[in-house]
Amino acid sequence: MSLITLGIESSCDETGIALYQMGRGLLAHALYTQVAMHSEYGGVVPELASRDHVRRVIPLVRQVMREADVSLAQISAIAYTQGPGLGGALLVGASIANALAYALDVPTIGIHHLEGHLLSPLLSDPAPEFPFVALLVSGGHTQLMRVNGVGQYTLLGETLDDAAGEAFDKSAKLLGLNYPGGPALAKLAESGRPGLYKLPRPMQHSGNLDFSFSGLKTAVLTLVKQSNNDGEKILDEQTRADIACAVQEAIVDVLAHKACAALTQTGLNQLVVAGGVGANQQLRSRLSESVGKRGGTVFYPGLEFCTDNGAMIAFAGALRLAQQQGKKDYRFNVKPRWDLQEVNTAK
Ligand code: KG4
Ligand code: ZN
Repeated sequence: MSLITLGIESSCDETGIALYQMGRGLLAHALYTQVAMHSEYGGVVPELASRDHVRRVIPLVRQVMREADVSLAQISAIAYTQGPGLGGALLVGASIANALAYALDVPTIGIHHLEGHLLSPLLSDPAPEFPFVALLVSGGHTQLMRVNGVGQYTLLGETLDDAAGEAFDKSAKLLGLNYPGGPALAKLAESGRPGLYKLPRPMQHSGNLDFSFSGLKTAVLTLVKQSNNDGEKILDEQTRADIACAVQEAIVDVLAHKACAALTQTGLNQLVVAGGVGANQQLRSRLSESVGKRGGTVFYPGLEFCTDNGAMIAFAGALRLAQQQGKKDYRFNVKPRWDLQEVNTAK
């Protein structure tokens, strides 16, 4: 029987656990989201996140084993998110992974969270083939990468300040929406009238593949203040929806423009979209349309694998273990800050 990898994701506010078997695919996966706990504070509270991961990991491991009918003796390796992310939260996953692996006498492998996101579209059918361009859009990152294979990543461009997810979240906050703002803003934008407000598209024509989103939140703040002209009145629902629509349009416009430019620059015709913002329907339809027009194809992970999850970690772990990269050395560290290109295996 081929290897079964247990994957543990605990880098931020989601505990994700999964079992992946080479040749068979994903056997089971489970997710616990801490969103309700953090929303009271308007953002992730790192200490609360760590404590909650401690409570969730083992029960979720038991749950996926039960669902997949897999015993401890059948687990042949454990993959965990080693970084980037919140130090304490990462330590929970890393320590449980290494303790369990030591007890089972199986190898562990630390996975880069963004590599998990980057490879997650390969879990879908049809899957892209190497090489492809990946647009990684999450709460902490906005990057365009050229992906030649597992562990062969070249950065083409990235945000110089805020990430696309942050731009969604901060704008959402200014519109009085709860954390995490991205999905809430997208929902509100559905009843907005397109084109009523024009927001800036920072760096859209910069001639390179970098992004900048911090100016957008300043523009949204100004717009909210202007629309709120008596200083006291709360924005009416329609105005909030119109502004939400303009924010989404601006972010989607820049992302689509740069993603197409990356395909032109690399001469590739497959685009992979990964990370939480990849769940945005407007972004999906806009990318499919613009890339389709050029004769290219866009690949998305299933919606549940766009945002943080354990499946992408189990899967990336399985691919890396196939390259003989697992270790039976249970000393571990975590890397709250970690450049994706440092995980490259081929030069
Ligand atoms: O990849 P992810 O789950 O976590 C990180 O690694 O950061 O991404 C979370 C980000 C948040 O900023 C969230 O607001 C955004 O993805 N997001 C969305 C949508 N769903 C999640 N943004 C826009 N539209 C969505 N539907
Ligand atoms: Zn993520």
